[in-house]
Amino acid sequence: MAAPQLLIDQLKLLIESPETYGNEEQRHEIKRLGRLASVALEAPFETMQRLVYSLLPLVAARIGQDCALFSTLEASQGPSDLAELSGASGLEPRILESIMDYLCTQGIVVEAEKQRYMPTKLSHLLLVPLFNDAVTHFHDNCLPGFAALHRILKEPWDSHMTAFKLGQHTDEDFYTWLETHPANQAAFHRFMEAQFASLPTWLDVFDVKTELGRDAGPTDIMFVDVGGGNGSQCPGLTKVWPDMPGKMILQDKPQVLEKALRVDGMEMMGHDFLTEQPVRDARAYYFRQVMHNYDDKICIAILKAHGGAMGEHSVILIDDKVLPDDGPPTGSPGVEYTAALSLAMKVVFDSMERRESHWRDLLHRAGLAIQDIRKFTRFHDAIIVARKV
Ligand SMILES: C[S@@+](CC[C@H](N)C(=O)[O-])C[C@H]1O[C@@H](n2cnc3c(N)ncnc32)[C@H](O)[C@@H]1O
Repeated sequence: MAAPQLLIDQLKLLIESPETYGNEEQRHEIKRLGRLASVALEAPFETMQRLVYSLLPLVAARIGQDCALFSTLEASQGPSDLAELSGASGLEPRILESIMDYLCTQGIVVEAEKQRYMPTKLSHLLLVPLFNDAVTHFHDNCLPGFAALHRILKEPWDSHMTAFKLGQHTDEDFYTWLETHPANQAAFHRFMEAQFASLPTWLDVFDVKTELGRDAGPTDIMFVDVGGGNGSQCPGLTKVWPDMPGKMILQDKPQVLEKALRVDGMEMMGHDFLTEQPVRDARAYYFRQVMHNYDDKICIAILKAHGGAMGEHSVILIDDKVLPDDGPPTGSPGVEYTAALSLAMKVVFDSMERRESHWRDLLHRAGLAIQDIRKFTRFHDAIIVARKV
């Protein structure tokens, strides 16, 4: 029999200490059912409001970060009033009041007294560099493209057009555009470096010492991080393999390398991965989150550009999502995230996340044999180990 008051009391208990409420599986089920329950309870007018304003949490978070609302709340000893927030942000009090009202409805800030606001766990999180960079990247770099996706899908365009280009009114692809938008470029690369920091990595399922290091000497090239961005993989590698013989090389566009991490023992080399790989006989050519930026034709061209450089000990390591061929049920953990990421790839690069059979076909066409596919997160992040046929 329905017992609404019991449910209300239970939800209040849950909100007080969410981390200790039930086990992980139960918490996932509560989140799933909670969202379905919230939608089920909506009146049509509320459903419309939820949909039409669905981009506002991202927009409000960007304003809160960029206009120093969150940092002002954080620095204040007690609640901050509108005058203080207006002084810090430069925002006119009337629009500021609406922004604060909206942030309160999202649980990002709280109104402790009339028009006096306090930070929350969420506003604190939005000040963490990773969250700051993530919001900047998705708001400034991707949002105009998301808004153009339906036009790209509906109308005929030439094959070079993407929703990103349409939304940003540019002819340049994402990475070329970043070169003239240094703040966006820096936010993107820091986001790429840090977004998976709390998750397991390929180094948890790939024993570099035994799988790459056999008979290796100081002149061997052990690891080439191709399109490696900030170079976040090399510190991880030296941590698990401090006495690694030989060299590690970070390759990317010269302009990206200028701002990359400085890591002991890591060399940097400007290289366009669409051209022949100049580093020969490396033990591993590693690609993290590179292939999902491209369609099959370009991925095959990138992989084939490495064929000539690969020696008998060389492997190609692809660190990307390998989605199961039989899509998991809609409510399973991570499905919303991986489906959204795939749409983001479509928007920015006109590419998609790939399923396992797609990867197998792609690598076969590139003249490579898959030796193993090892998953290391519940979001289907995997390392694909491939050799030359
Ligand atoms: C999605 S990011 C991944 C970066 C890094 N592997 C990581 O996981 O953090 C793709 C990277 O490819 C680089 N890139 C794009 N086009 C390139 C090209 N033609 N040659 C070399 N690197 C390129 C970008 O600068 C960027 O760092």
